[in-house]
Amino acid sequence: MLKTLKGTKDILPEEVYMWQYIEASARDIFAIYGYKEIRTPIIEDASLFIRSIGDSTDIVQKEMYVFSDRGGRTIALRPEATASVVRAYIENSIGCKEGLSKLFYIGPMFRSERPQKGRQRQFHQLGVEAIGSDDPFLDVEVILLAWYFLKRLGIDNFDLKINSLGCEKDKSEIIERYRKNVKPHLASLCKECNERYGKNVLRVLDCKNPKCKEVIRGIEFRNSLCRECSAHFEFIKEALERLGVSYAVDTRIVRGLDYYTKTVFEIIQKDLGAKDAVCAGGRYNNLIKDMGGKETPAIGFAFGIERLILAAKDLCSGVFKKKVFIATTAPALRKHAFKLVEDLRREKIASDMDYEGKSLKAQMKKAEKLKSSFVIIFGDEEFSQGNVVLKHMDNGTQRQIKIIEAVEEIKNR
Ligand code: HAM
Repeated sequence: MLKTLKGTKDILPEEVYMWQYIEASARDIFAIYGYKEIRTPIIEDASLFIRSIGDSTDIVQKEMYVFSDRGGRTIALRPEATASVVRAYIENSIGCKEGLSKLFYIGPMFRSERPQKGRQRQFHQLGVEAIGSDDPFLDVEVILLAWYFLKRLGIDNFDLKINSLGCEKDKSEIIERYRKNVKPHLASLCKECNERYGKNVLRVLDCKNPKCKEVIRGIEFRNSLCRECSAHFEFIKEALERLGVSYAVDTRIVRGLDYYTKTVFEIIQKDLGAKDAVCAGGRYNNLIKDMGGKETPAIGFAFGIERLILAAKDLCSGVFKKKVFIATTAPALRKHAFKLVEDLRREKIASDMDYEGKSLKAQMKKAEKLKSSFVIIFGDEEFSQGNVVLKHMDNGTQRQIKIIEAVEEIKNR
């Protein structure tokens, strides 16, 4: 039998409602903050990602799906969307039309990683990119948006970690300082980390090898920023404090992609285990210029939707509004039940009935399985008096109501 590829998953109907809820919440909140949707292709010229994410990163070195198409072009399945959005921003002169451009995206990304809980080869991100301003208020807005989105999904158990890599000059000084700190530990680090040390020491901090992680945890990393970058970072910290957003500064947050400058952040959800970053982002003030555009500062983030679902699993099951199941005790009553199902649906109340000839007991089981909030039972005796039984599934209580009042009754619940 043919099966899904390793690291990919079917999203089945019983799970899809959570995706829809998360996506709808994102669209809603992003619109409130003034972000507009952009949809870019899933395939791009591979050099887009090599140039932007950096050729010493794990994503480019080991994880990117790259193939030659029939015309001999080197194509990549996008491993992330920031580079694609930047390409689209430059190619379509979006900045000329809009000035500050606030964009969001939702869609699949591809990385050939070793699959585990919360880590897939085809996964989905929802993210924002605010392109065209270095105003620290924008950093605060983007962080706040991520924070508020989690709160709206009912996810509370998370930590926000922030750091600043500073401007280009600060970043190269940080790299030098980190090289000095890592050097004495090279013998305890894996072969790849030794290579990373030569190419880009910041990548040592992303190593997934548990032994390296342990060694890195024992090293102290300290940043020092120029006056302007330091003021920018202080502004963000003060604003977050003022707004009641708790955070921790963590100088180990350097991010696994090369394009970051100044503010970087990750949101860690404590219940996710090893793959605990549910959201990550930061500033990339040089990327647009490096990709052939004008000098344009920008900042963004991306959430992993699979990880959001793991974090929100229990909380999302209650998101549906009222649902009604109509049960019948005799086939002759089905046409009346069918009419009521349709009347409820006209009022935008999710309703259903039995189409499988089930007994009353089996219909009640089905209603439970569908997480119905109410069951309306058509029984011969009650029906002969113009009544039905209304059962509240949350507390099990039931009483008779008039059939003609059933829709109003449910609407008012
Ligand atoms: P990233 O840290 O590579 O950043 O990914 C962002 C989020 O995507 C992660 O925190 C995680 O939740 C999710 N994610 C990444 N890889 C996987 C995977 N293999 N399986 C499941 N989920 C995964 C970026 O992609 C940047 N483009 C974020 C950004 C936007 N920076 C600025 N703007």
